[in-house]
Amino acid sequence: MSTQHLIADNVWKSFGHDEALTPVLHGIDLSIDQGDFVAIMGPSGSGKSTLLYCVSGMDDVSDGTVTLSPAGSEAVEITALPQRDLAALRLNRMGFVFQQVHLLRNLTILDNVVLPGVTATPDRRADVVDRALQLLERVGIAELSDRDITQASGGQLQRAAIARALINEPELVFGDEPTGALNAATAAEIMELLAEVNAEGRTVVLVTHDPVVAAYCRRVVVLRDGVIDGDLRRTDGETDESWADNLAGWLISHGT
Ligand SMILES: Nc1ncnc2c1ncn2[C@@H]1O[C@H](COP(=O)(O)OP(=O)(O)OP(=O)(O)O)[C@@H](O)[C@H]1O
Ligand SMILES: [Mg+2]
Repeated sequence: MSTQHLIADNVWKSFGHDEALTPVLHGIDLSIDQGDFVAIMGPSGSGKSTLLYCVSGMDDVSDGTVTLSPAGSEAVEITALPQRDLAALRLNRMGFVFQQVHLLRNLTILDNVVLPGVTATPDRRADVVDRALQLLERVGIAELSDRDITQASGGQLQRAAIARALINEPELVFGDEPTGALNAATAAEIMELLAEVNAEGRTVVLVTHDPVVAAYCRRVVVLRDGVIDGDLRRTDGETDESWADNLAGWLISHGT
């Protein structure tokens, strides 16, 4: 039986205030299973990034709750945590990958991967460096570890960003259009990597506009005007081809 890992309960989010108050998320209920691989899709401006930031604690909610409830450990309502505890939880238990990689320009690729690791465990630098080197090997860019980030391609930098996201062995990995800036072949390589990350048991939630990217996932949630307008799950035993076909047809019927 699957267990719930991340639960959004009646999440509202508005920007601005007074007459300029703009509601963006309208009471989202979303429960994500432990180990699931979920794509959030929907038109531009429908609130996908906002939802991702709200459920990952990167942004606060206007109303409602988000609870992290991993199997075997205590549930934490992340919407009730003080900023400091929330920052620590994000650092230790969540990894983030964005469309534009947020790597630091004055550091090597290796040091970019190491940084969140030593921030989490400052007294274990040697272990962190070992782990970072292993991760760079795994994502296929070990030979670039000493390079400056200006000396790598977009696909290589996204690999580095994935290594960085994994340095603290997070239980959850979030991506906001992680393949959005890449060509189709490079996007496929990045999705293969994220599928491996998921196969290790990490829950992966990503936003994408691309049905080919979404087909790597096992569940697709469509947002429209800040409400959930569709939720499709791959059935057990469904072949890759059949799932990709069903998903493409379903997305068309949902106007996506
Ligand atoms: N910080 C902000 N302040 C004010 N409005 C915002 C802010 N962030 C997002 N919005 C608004 O909220 C709505 C949803 O934005 P969001 O970025 O979540 O959409 P999206 O579905 O991710 O779109 P896209 O596919 O273009 O990335 C938009 O109308 C946007 O202008
Ligand atoms: Mg967005």
